Amino acid sequence: MHIKNQTFSTDTARDQALLVGSEKNSLNELQELTLTAGGSVEGIITHRLDNLNAAHYLGKGKLEEVKRTVETLDVNLVIFDCELSPAQLRNLEEILDIKIIDRTQLILDIFSLHADTRESKLQVEKAQLEYMLSRLAGKGTELSRLGGGIGTRGPGETKLETDRRRINERIHRLKEELKDISRTRHVQRQERQDPMIALAGYTNAGKSTLLNQLTKADKPVADQLFATLDSTLRRFKLPGGKQAIITDTVGFIRNLPHQLIASFRATLEEIRQADIILHLIDSSQDNIEERIQIVKDVLQDIEVKSKTSLLVFNKIDLLSENKRNFLESSYPEAYFISARQGRGIEALLLKLEEIIYNQLVEVSGILPYDQAGLIEVIHQRGSVENEEYSQEGILIEALVPGDIASRLENLLRKQEKKEKKPLP
Ligand code: GTP
Repeated sequence: MHIKNQTFSTDTARDQALLVGSEKNSLNELQELTLTAGGSVEGIITHRLDNLNAAHYLGKGKLEEVKRTVETLDVNLVIFDCELSPAQLRNLEEILDIKIIDRTQLILDIFSLHADTRESKLQVEKAQLEYMLSRLAGKGTELSRLGGGIGTRGPGETKLETDRRRINERIHRLKEELKDISRTRHVQRQERQDPMIALAGYTNAGKSTLLNQLTKADKPVADQLFATLDSTLRRFKLPGGKQAIITDTVGFIRNLPHQLIASFRATLEEIRQADIILHLIDSSQDNIEERIQIVKDVLQDIEVKSKTSLLVFNKIDLLSENKRNFLESSYPEAYFISARQGRGIEALLLKLEEIIYNQLVEVSGILPYDQAGLIEVIHQRGSVENEEYSQEGILIEALVPGDIASRLENLLRKQEKKEKKPLP
């Protein structure tokens, strides 16, 4: 996360928005998202979900209320807390005579603002183009809404050709480039020897802060949604002195646009490949259970197979004693920390160490000499019970962590079984 300034739209006036939605928590979040995108929130209108209209989303009465409010307040943008169909978007713009964006566009916009490496830029561009394409499906529409300001940043700014074929070609090229980056990453991953721990969690849970705390790094931390879009990998020492790698990736949110999940697959791959997942939770929030479920759903979406995952409640410095007691009894298996103050970290590290080094798997066989480099890794990460050098290779019997065992699986040749002579 590299936040350069707090108001992002340096070259455009700050967008003044009216928010429209139906659910309180989600609207609070939409407000945060709007601020993160560099806009200001001038008003909020709530509506019920039982009177929606296929053509212009809101029922007639509500629509009139929004129109009146737009005229009264000094706003230049209305943000809907849902995903609008292209037709609804057009109709609403016509009726209300103002720029309209939906939650998906707003999130895409923030991702576009925060992307600051080649990979994340390509990933965001791909997601935005796929979103545009879904909006163009079956329509001959021009993408006339491109320009500056919230919801319209990104590829539009570069005056990208807007017809479908061009977009498809560009998506194809982006995919190829991303594949290359992901291949390099895959090779690097194969070369890593240390166990890997991935931080996962709702946006703003404190993942970067914990990473800094563990690795004594100074990754920028910001009270912003989606400040981190890349995966950061850092080495750190467990209490017993062995090394581990920790990785922090993109945060999650309810209704994370599926184009983004698809585009960020390579970044999220770090979570898939990790040995342990630390699911970090901002314990100062009200809707903890819902957020935990959303993170679990995204993890399921990206097919994180059942692996060791620890629930870690962060920001305990903000909790009342009552809430802390309540959470501790509701989640007895969880860990409670303050990443900012460094509280509770030691117990968490000891647990990580226990998981990593107590789940050793027995391996035995002959390792060919061209793989002899692995012997050092086996010594470092596991415990060797027998090691003999022979003509065929190195006979090894050892207890090693699961990731090393799977690497050895195809390399170790089983010892030839001595043929039993048939009984006469
Ligand atoms: P994204 O990149 O948006 O996914 O966020 P993140 O999960 O990396 O969160 P980050 O570490 O950027 O922290 C978000 C905000 O929470 C920052 O303002 C931090 O200073 C604050 N924060 C993190 N940990 C703690 C904590 O233990 N206590 C308190 N009070 N604040 C914390």
